[in-house]
Amino acid sequence: MHNPFDFDKQTQLRELAAREGQATAQAHPNIAFIKYWGNQDDRLRLPVNPSLSMNLGNLHTLTTVIFDSNLSNDELVINETMTTGAALARVTAHLDLVRQQANLFSAAWVESVGNFPVGSGIASSAAAFAALSVASAAAAGLNLDESSLSRLARRGSGSASRSVPAGYVEWGMGDDENSVARSIAMPEYWDLLDIIVVVNHEHKVVGSSQGHTLAQTSSLQAARVAGAVERFEQCREALLARDLSKLGPIIEEDAVIMHAVMMSSRPPLYYWNSATMTVIQATHEWRNQGLQVYFTIDAGPNVHLICEAQNAESIVVQARQLPGVEAIFLSGPGGAARLVS
Ligand code: PMV
Repeated sequence: MHNPFDFDKQTQLRELAAREGQATAQAHPNIAFIKYWGNQDDRLRLPVNPSLSMNLGNLHTLTTVIFDSNLSNDELVINETMTTGAALARVTAHLDLVRQQANLFSAAWVESVGNFPVGSGIASSAAAFAALSVASAAAAGLNLDESSLSRLARRGSGSASRSVPAGYVEWGMGDDENSVARSIAMPEYWDLLDIIVVVNHEHKVVGSSQGHTLAQTSSLQAARVAGAVERFEQCREALLARDLSKLGPIIEEDAVIMHAVMMSSRPPLYYWNSATMTVIQATHEWRNQGLQVYFTIDAGPNVHLICEAQNAESIVVQARQLPGVEAIFLSGPGGAARLVS
């Protein structure tokens, strides 16, 4: 059961953060049912199609931001490892957006800890940039509402915009002002489960930022985008009707179309390995045997099996026995990104 968002507590924590110049926030990753792949504007991360996702309540990233005028540069620690290079540069660029808005000049100490593997297609950047946005805005003394935080998170990683609101979330196209995510249903609305079947926990070689720019080199991308709004609307309708037999085929189709774009990009991007295919085929078999379960896959080899809670145990037991399966995580829907004490 997830904790409901407590507005009074959040206000208290935000006031405290503004006084102390430091804050800690927690955010969940999300799994996209309709995928975001390709930008209209890479710098602003404005997507070429709307997307829809579920926050994953059992997985989280916890990020602390401390603005400190004694520091000469931003410093970043991820899972207890001092981190520099591209990851630090991306965090600094994000903090610059916050500093600009708050008229602040201090560098920051940023420490982030997650309870799931980074960079393996479990949207770690979504949770990371949602938590970083909420923590850094509060530590800088900014009082941003949910839409403004979602917009800020989007600049760090597109899918992070969807980790700011609670539960089941949609993120529309638009311009810099209005391309923000919002909840379409709270976590309690539907007890869906994501069984994350990890077939490779290593950090992926080609990150999604690079993938988004490659998308346009695939001749299939135009067809993907042309059908995306219709799939998005069907998915939204099936979700609001809590109809898994309608939702499932759409999410599978949408994931496969995105991976077809990836595989046909120049250069091609193959995120799947042979165990990915084994899990896909097993999902089809389980369904033929009457189990309601559908797969989706983000930018990585790991397979997310979507089912209702009552079928989870049987699926987990069978998935564990498949060759190439390294680990399994389970999560129901999760709440909004928030400040924590
Ligand atoms: O937010 P990014 O740049 O990490 O892109 C996420 C892309 C996918 O996970 C593959 C799809 C999605 O909508 O989350």
